[in-house]
Amino acid sequence: MLIEKLNGKVVKSGNFCDTYNPVFFRICSEGRDKDDLMHLLETNTDIKVHDTITAQLKELVKTRKPSFRLSPAQIEEEIISHLNGINITEYGVWVYYPWKETLVHILDKNEFIELRTNRNKYKITDEEQETLGGKKVGIIGLSVGQSIALTFAMERICGELRLADFDTADLSNLNRLRTGVANIGIKKTVIAAREIMEMDPYLNIKLFDNGINEGNIVDFMCDGGKLDLLVEVCDGIDIKILSRYKARELGIPVIMDTNDRGMLDVERFDLEPSRPVLHGLAEGLDPNTIKGLSNEDKVPFILNLVGIDTISSRLKASMMEVEQSLSTWPQLASSVTLGGALTTDVSRRILLGLFHDSGRYYVDFDELIKNKPSETDGTDVKNYFGPDEMDWATLELIAAKYKPIGISSHIGADDLNTLLNAACLAPSGGNAQPWKFLYKNDRIFIIHDEHFSYSLLDFRNEGSYLGFGAMLENIAIAASAYNIPANVEVFPVKDDMRLIAVVSFGHVVLSHALNYLSPVIGSRVTNRNTGERKLLDKEDKLALESLAEFIPGAKLQLYEEISQLAEFANELTNAERIRILNPRGHFDTFIREIRFNRLQTEATSDGMDIETLNMSKSEKAGLQIASDPVAIEFLNKLQKGTGFKKISHKPIMTSSCIGVLSMDGNDAYHFLQGGRATEIVWLEANRRGISLQPVSAAIFLLSRYLHGNKSDFNHFEQSELNSINKNLNRLMDLPHGRYPVFIFRLFYADQPKERALRRPLKKVFFEDRF
Ligand SMILES: Cc1cc2nc3c(=O)[nH]c(=O)nc-3n(C[C@H](O)[C@H](O)[C@H](O)COP(=O)(O)O)c2cc1C
Repeated sequence: MLIEKLNGKVVKSGNFCDTYNPVFFRICSEGRDKDDLMHLLETNTDIKVHDTITAQLKELVKTRKPSFRLSPAQIEEEIISHLNGINITEYGVWVYYPWKETLVHILDKNEFIELRTNRNKYKITDEEQETLGGKKVGIIGLSVGQSIALTFAMERICGELRLADFDTADLSNLNRLRTGVANIGIKKTVIAAREIMEMDPYLNIKLFDNGINEGNIVDFMCDGGKLDLLVEVCDGIDIKILSRYKARELGIPVIMDTNDRGMLDVERFDLEPSRPVLHGLAEGLDPNTIKGLSNEDKVPFILNLVGIDTISSRLKASMMEVEQSLSTWPQLASSVTLGGALTTDVSRRILLGLFHDSGRYYVDFDELIKNKPSETDGTDVKNYFGPDEMDWATLELIAAKYKPIGISSHIGADDLNTLLNAACLAPSGGNAQPWKFLYKNDRIFIIHDEHFSYSLLDFRNEGSYLGFGAMLENIAIAASAYNIPANVEVFPVKDDMRLIAVVSFGHVVLSHALNYLSPVIGSRVTNRNTGERKLLDKEDKLALESLAEFIPGAKLQLYEEISQLAEFANELTNAERIRILNPRGHFDTFIREIRFNRLQTEATSDGMDIETLNMSKSEKAGLQIASDPVAIEFLNKLQKGTGFKKISHKPIMTSSCIGVLSMDGNDAYHFLQGGRATEIVWLEANRRGISLQPVSAAIFLLSRYLHGNKSDFNHFEQSELNSINKNLNRLMDLPHGRYPVFIFRLFYADQPKERALRRPLKKVFFEDRF
């Protein structure tokens, strides 16, 4: 590396140094410049000299007389007159670029600016150009910021640029950073500054190459004069907030480009001193509160700031792949280049006082430039909603098909309520509560309302029947515990399976050996918390296994080896992934099932309240991103989405064991019976302080895959389901003739803070006393 003392400064040459200031030699004037330049050239024979001063002068004289067609001789004359006796070699400035070891001969400042901005006219007038030349702009973050800085410099919409970034260029930055491979490892500030100095060495540049922090933000904004505009395009939310609070305090307008869908934010703190930062989207965040937030806690704020629903589907899909198949989210050169253009255009108008508003704007190419809608668009939109909700008349029609055996006695309101409450406390897939009750002719008719359960997972209503089985067990236990002489007939109308059961009332109370479980009916819960892995006691295991067999044909198998848990985790979570990636499964999950906030939860009192899902703030935010069907369709095409496996992976791995409840058949009746056995195991487990969470998507998905229409799944989904099926069968190792009807995990953990709601009785119970 060459180290020279030039113009009184120590100058290091070569790329691998932090120099970004060129050295100026004005050799026609008195001073040491000529000697220094001579010395530089004598001691460095490698220096490349680029002298185009004659061409520049030719252009200058021509642009000054645009209405003349000057002949070569006239141009020559004009130049001679312009030089006014000065030797052309000594005219203007010799600029030495140490990092390029190149010496360039250019016009001096005023003529240089005049000629370099000549083609801006009159999109930018001379007066405007001069005004802009006095402006100071700060740019924080030099990814899109580099494109902005270069465009600002090229258009010359400011006279001073302060550039802040702490990073160096990596090869993976070069997809959007306008620089060459020889600059890998060089600071991004230095790269940008050099590019700018090479196009216009007369601009003032100040670098903050440790980035911005509380210690230097005031210097950044004020040292050498207050900024006229702040361009904030960094990744860190702390700095986004800190810089805005400072900018607002100092009355500096802020502009931000987010290089997705051409999103641009303008905040006119110069005109609106009390404007909430980031249009109020950063509510709850200030430079002090942000300090206490973990990275995890910041994610929802960040997503709120960028607008979780408005980011592009491709970005959403990519975000879901971060730390799966991607190391970080994507940024494209085209977006970054657009960001440079947008920000420069709007900044120029702000700096010239031509644009005054604050707001968020989009220049979204996908929206602006797209195929005309074709006639077939919209015709294949699938409707995954099921049949309409049953009304009273339909319930009556179904009940009318029932042919009573014997008589039923009237039941008092208290007993009726006891049974109905126990019934409604049953678990149901997705908390769909696909039930309706009709009290008629002194009987309770329990009817399946498919409107609520119609879904990818509920193939042949198997999931629903499982839940109804649990309900019938609750009714039987409660009846015995409260001395209610109830008698249950299951599927009494063979050609209408919607009538799940009819409860009649006689005089004899059927004693249930497990009626001590009655108090647990109200506290039984799906726990999705994660605890420390602790094996079940032998006695607990034996009790659960033998209680399952209380229901004829039912059997419970427990798998507790960690290697078995790992294999179950892999297969069961893969089934959950396929459910989310499948268009209908996605619709079920996000449109029908999940309630994203209290308002939604309370509006229906069914579905999955996000607060019961034991998710961190960032996981909840992730779920919101995953609700975009276009993003998911894209991930499905890529056969990705492995991030969804994370949701249940840790919970399974920290469980005591996986339980598989199997039956000796797999028709509707067996699922109903399986539900009874499941409820007994669930109640007993909870009674013993053991938590239970179903992880059953695989069973119900596989049922559709194996016995239903293959076209419900694409090739990728089919191949994954095929492998899940093979691996689960090997893992469960059930004897021939046994069928899994429910899979769950058993574990020790804190009780859930929120409980799943139930629809009020008045919405599910109808009474016909006539
Ligand atoms: C057939 C069936 C399948 C279920 N599958 C799952 C599941 O895969 N994951 C899960 O967390 N809960 C599952 N559940 C539990 C329900 O979501 C839960 O019962 C419902 O939200 C009501 O909450 P509760 O059980 O706390 O009363 C399932 C329940 C049933 C009956």
